[in-house]
Amino acid sequence: MSHHKHSHHDVAFGIDIGGSGIKGAPVDLHKGEFAADRLRIPTPQPATPAAVAKTVAEIVDSFDLDKKVPIGVTFPAVMLHGVAQSAANVDKSWIGTDAQKLFSDATDRTVVAVNDADAAGFAEVAYGAAKDVDGVVLVVTLGTGIGSALIVDGQLVPNTELGHLEIDGHDAESRAAESVRDREGLDWEQWAQRLQRYFTVVENLFWPDLIVVGGGVSKHHKDFLPLLDIRTKIVPAELRNAAGIVGAAALAAQEDDDD
Ligand code: BGC
Repeated sequence: MSHHKHSHHDVAFGIDIGGSGIKGAPVDLHKGEFAADRLRIPTPQPATPAAVAKTVAEIVDSFDLDKKVPIGVTFPAVMLHGVAQSAANVDKSWIGTDAQKLFSDATDRTVVAVNDADAAGFAEVAYGAAKDVDGVVLVVTLGTGIGSALIVDGQLVPNTELGHLEIDGHDAESRAAESVRDREGLDWEQWAQRLQRYFTVVENLFWPDLIVVGGGVSKHHKDFLPLLDIRTKIVPAELRNAAGIVGAAALAAQEDDDD
């Protein structure tokens, strides 16, 4: 059974704002794939709201988009109705910034701004590793921080922020994020022990039907997923680094359909 309702749009545009690059591409909403090559521009430093908005506009302008094409943008922070509420790994000046209004003004179009993990998670449910999965799906992205997306029968519960669970007295992402593996020089086994603790707490609180692991490191899933001993079925993400763009586009199309 598929929960993914087909949008009346065939194409939407997705933009993924990351710490090192801002990437955008038109997305075929039937396939959940890029409809043309993506464009990547390095993230301006410092990544202030004004500088990022300028880059977002540059990306949109470089594609010949009909004004009716919905545009979705991901941002790595809590996004309440398009307004950034946190800034764990981004410039603090984002807190309180109405990203949706900023990007809409910069591009002269309606733009929807969503949390990065929510976009990636929505894409996995609509087109990837959790396609056609009934019940509760939890998508966890392992990167600079830890992001989460909770999707229940195809419906996203936004801004779950499970990377910031306090576990053993620590902010979980400060122990188990992919950036920590790198920073502390952990081997796969050592990092897997951190993930074991993290996913055990998470599965005992949420009892998901499926956990999907995303983020760049998910391409190395064979090195660490088999080391985990948890009750919940856990699988790697399928959309890899396209997930943010595809999910942002799909969420923007869904929001436009709902209006
Ligand atoms: C942020 C989340 C974000 C995650 C992944 C966390 O530090 O609080 O909003 O989804 O990192 O980028």
